[in-house]
Amino acid sequence: GYVGSAGPSGRPLDVSLEGLRRLEYRGYDSAGVALVVPGGELAVAKKAGKLANLVEELDARPLPPATAAIGHTRWATHGGPTDVNAHPHVAGRLALIHNGIVENYAVLKAELLAEGVEFLSETDTEVVAHLVSRAYDASKDLTAALASVARRLEGTFTLLAVHADLPDTVVGARHDSPLVVGLGDGENFLGSDVAAFIGSTRRALELGQDQVVTITPTSVTVTDLDGSPVQATPYTVDWDISAAEKGGFRSFMDKEIHDQPQAVSDTLLGRLDLAGRLVLDEMRIDETVLRSVDKIVVVACGTAAYAGHVAKYAIEHWCRIPVEVELAHEFRYRDPVVDERTLVVAISQSGETMDTLMALRHAKEQGATTLAIVNTHGSTIPREADAVLYTHAGPEIAVASTKAFLAQITAAYLLGLYLAQLRGNKFPDEVAATLAELREMPDKIQQVLDRSDRVREIARWMADTQSVLFLGRHVGYPVALEGALKLKELAYIHAEGFAAGELKHGPIALIEPGQPVFVVVPSPRGRNSLHSKVVSNIQEIRARGARTLVVAEDGDEAVVPYADEVFSVPQSSTLLAPLLAVVPLQVFASELAHAKGLDVDQPRNLAKSVTVE
Ligand code: G6P
Repeated sequence: GYVGSAGPSGRPLDVSLEGLRRLEYRGYDSAGVALVVPGGELAVAKKAGKLANLVEELDARPLPPATAAIGHTRWATHGGPTDVNAHPHVAGRLALIHNGIVENYAVLKAELLAEGVEFLSETDTEVVAHLVSRAYDASKDLTAALASVARRLEGTFTLLAVHADLPDTVVGARHDSPLVVGLGDGENFLGSDVAAFIGSTRRALELGQDQVVTITPTSVTVTDLDGSPVQATPYTVDWDISAAEKGGFRSFMDKEIHDQPQAVSDTLLGRLDLAGRLVLDEMRIDETVLRSVDKIVVVACGTAAYAGHVAKYAIEHWCRIPVEVELAHEFRYRDPVVDERTLVVAISQSGETMDTLMALRHAKEQGATTLAIVNTHGSTIPREADAVLYTHAGPEIAVASTKAFLAQITAAYLLGLYLAQLRGNKFPDEVAATLAELREMPDKIQQVLDRSDRVREIARWMADTQSVLFLGRHVGYPVALEGALKLKELAYIHAEGFAAGELKHGPIALIEPGQPVFVVVPSPRGRNSLHSKVVSNIQEIRARGARTLVVAEDGDEAVVPYADEVFSVPQSSTLLAPLLAVVPLQVFASELAHAKGLDVDQPRNLAKSVTVE
């Protein structure tokens, strides 16, 4: 949303298209804009497909100059991705956009149909547009109209509306979906994420749950759904537009893979004192509570869940506290055993994933202490958790997660080490040594990146591959799962990750001559070395004709006779190895997708932050 005082001009449209371009990664199956044209008109354009289709349409049929605008990119829920179902939806003289799902839309639609309202689309959103339009006609107060309708909606929503009567106003409301305000000079902005307006301002305002905001060129007013004023907290975004640009790389994915040393070092920054001890100033949870925690449950989705899976091995080892890792959408619905002595850790890059947010709320209701490991400031999950440990990976734009994964592992390790330090752990030397080693990881990740030519070459050769398997043990197991997920997401290739020990219990039946299998090999120097077992697994699949692509540490000669290809990574302790071993797998998936001519930043059907359940 945008409103400015510069008078009729192209700026409202330019700002909304620029904002959509920056947010396109959140969903991109159709796009649209609505402008308020002085003199009391609305001008709307919307197109199925990526934003480029809308831009083409606007070039062919330009819209008149305007003072206010709203824009939207869609990830379809109700109604397929067509021009008609694209937002904004117009009802009378009002245009409205919506993120989320209105669960009671059928009841509301029946009510409107009975009153003779005609619908053009199959969306839940059009129902809301009609309701707000009618409420406005009755009250002539757009803010009150939006608030009164928001009170009737069940489900999740961010709504923005403009009205042809009001050339200087955009109103917004949120319930379980993100909305932030950008504070400009003689202009103001609304977006799902600060990335929408970071090119114009770094000053932003957080909106809370169930709040309504009204922006004009010179004012921002926030109320709750009952109209009572609310004091919103302004903050300054700590990154600028260059962080949201490709910086010379052919894709955001390439840039973000390359950014990983920085993401890890920034996540460590300021969290170690001169003596090498951990200081987590932001850990607002009482130390006595943390000392009494008897179980940790990690809830997350996708890549973030694999980061939690890696962390489980480390935290259990350092802290001797049982750690469960659960997909957030499964956790909530199975009546999990959680109480006051449980620490529930929600891991999320966006801080907005609805499944994760709902799991967090469920945990709070059960009395658990909650901690968020999140990358995006001002997002919902950290606001609702008891405490937050931010990953400082910077904005992650490519839909499939890379640098956030490394930063999440790093932050979860800091949590584990902190708890170990606090609880007088069994392994004080190891904790200190791990902290020291963590500081060396950015350099080692850089070395892996510097050696990535060979993995790129192999990926290009394999562009026609139909299926790839990934094996790992211990922390290498979630790394294998993540390697398989990256290949599915980016290259649309069937890929599966297995625990290498499970191979003989079933998956080995999949092995036939030529089947490519990545194997993540643990360090031969490990404390309770699994190395020889994994080397045996490589031999077993090689004997059955598999093509073995092995990720092993420098100097591991034992794998060489059984590997068709070895991608070596610098030596590290077993628990830190995932930060290195996953990198060749990310590079492989990304390069293979490029070789297939796919859009690696915006894979089909996916969205970066899934704000519906
Ligand atoms: C989506 C994305 C994944 C991501 C997952 C969790 O499904 O496509 O790449 O891992 O959400 O996102 P979060 O923002 O909670 O880390």
